[in-house]
Amino acid sequence: MTITRLSLTDFRNYPALELELRSRQNFFIGPNGAGKTNLLEAVRLGALGRSHRAARDADLARWGCRAYRVVLTGECRQGTFTIDLSWRHGHGKQVRVDGVEVPRLSDLLGLVPVVMFAPQDLDLVQGSPRERRRYLDLLLCQLRPAYYHAWSAWQRVLAHRNRLLTTPAADPAHLATWDAQLVATAVPVFQARARLVARLTPLVAGLHAALASPGQTLSLVYRPGLPGVGESTLGAEAPALAVLLEQALVRVRGSERRRGTTLVGPHRDDLGLLLDGRDARLFASQGQQRTAALALRLAELRLLTERKGEPPLLLLDDVLSELDAGRRTALVALLRDQGQTLVTAATSEALPPADEGAAVFWVEGGNVLPLSSPEPFDGRLARGEC
Ligand SMILES: Nc1ncnc2c1ncn2[C@@H]1O[C@H](COP(=O)(O)OP(=O)(O)OP(=O)(O)O)[C@@H](O)[C@H]1O
Ligand SMILES: [Mg+2]
Repeated sequence: MTITRLSLTDFRNYPALELELRSRQNFFIGPNGAGKTNLLEAVRLGALGRSHRAARDADLARWGCRAYRVVLTGECRQGTFTIDLSWRHGHGKQVRVDGVEVPRLSDLLGLVPVVMFAPQDLDLVQGSPRERRRYLDLLLCQLRPAYYHAWSAWQRVLAHRNRLLTTPAADPAHLATWDAQLVATAVPVFQARARLVARLTPLVAGLHAALASPGQTLSLVYRPGLPGVGESTLGAEAPALAVLLEQALVRVRGSERRRGTTLVGPHRDDLGLLLDGRDARLFASQGQQRTAALALRLAELRLLTERKGEPPLLLLDDVLSELDAGRRTALVALLRDQGQTLVTAATSEALPPADEGAAVFWVEGGNVLPLSSPEPFDGRLARGEC
């Protein structure tokens, strides 16, 4: 699967862009603030329906504009395809795949698998548990799009139950029916996350060993938002897990009433990252945290490659410049023989070695121009009003 063409209209600092991409390496070099990350953001948005910067749609539209459009044209085993994602103020987002509107953004998941390495990945280690839950959930959605439906069913129940808990006059019997629904929808989420962490653990440890200083070990531990329940219990059958969650809900009922929110469940999960047995969030250096985050992304890449039978689209945003020489060489080795890659850097020194046929683009002020390309240039920018 490759993206052959990227078309942007009023997206971030691009009024209009038509860019032909190569099937292997595509390098984007340019000064800070040029629009390199915006390009990768557009590709990820077209593939997954959401921005990696968690931006609002209104922020993605070029300043002063009330609409934007991102079109990805690609090739896969079945032939060519087009994903046309557009947003208009007051109308929301619309996605068409090969001209047919998809009813939900989640229907995009799995169509174009993507892994993105970005400077914000440090948040996977330094950030709140929400960042790590999002990592697990998005990976699960890409691996198994049906997970999204399980996850969103549970989210709906959770939101409803939280509303009830803030209603002083809520009928206890009514709350009990929502408890039952919470249990029924939360258990598959717990189990899917636990299974994923079990698969990730050896993979992350091996990839981390290839990147880190000798002797350092990274291990993962799933910490479910269900006090007293460990990974081994989560491997248990669903009915046993449901009983544990029911019991926990009974135990915390008084506190939930007082605090007006659900206190147990997958929304309180965390993924512990232990470097030599100690919490990497609290004790690892910035470089060690960066290495741990890279190992998580590389594991994502491995699992998606395994699942889809071919490498996902790889987006590397300014990643190599942050690493020391040893880690950079190790990362480049681990990324060798990937499928299509889009890589950004402020200077060419921070790029991995180019394969034959790699395309190199210069990005500046929302312009994308070829620096060296064996084939005629086909990327151009037309300035226009929105
Ligand atoms: N909605 C928007 N409309 C117009 N311009 C925008 C919008 N959002 C961001 N920008 C501009 O895009 C530029 C940032 O682009 P981007 O983050 O892609 O830069 P970059 O080339 O990746 O820079 P760096 O090397 O610092 O990471 C900024 O100059 C910003 O002003
Ligand atoms: Mg950038």
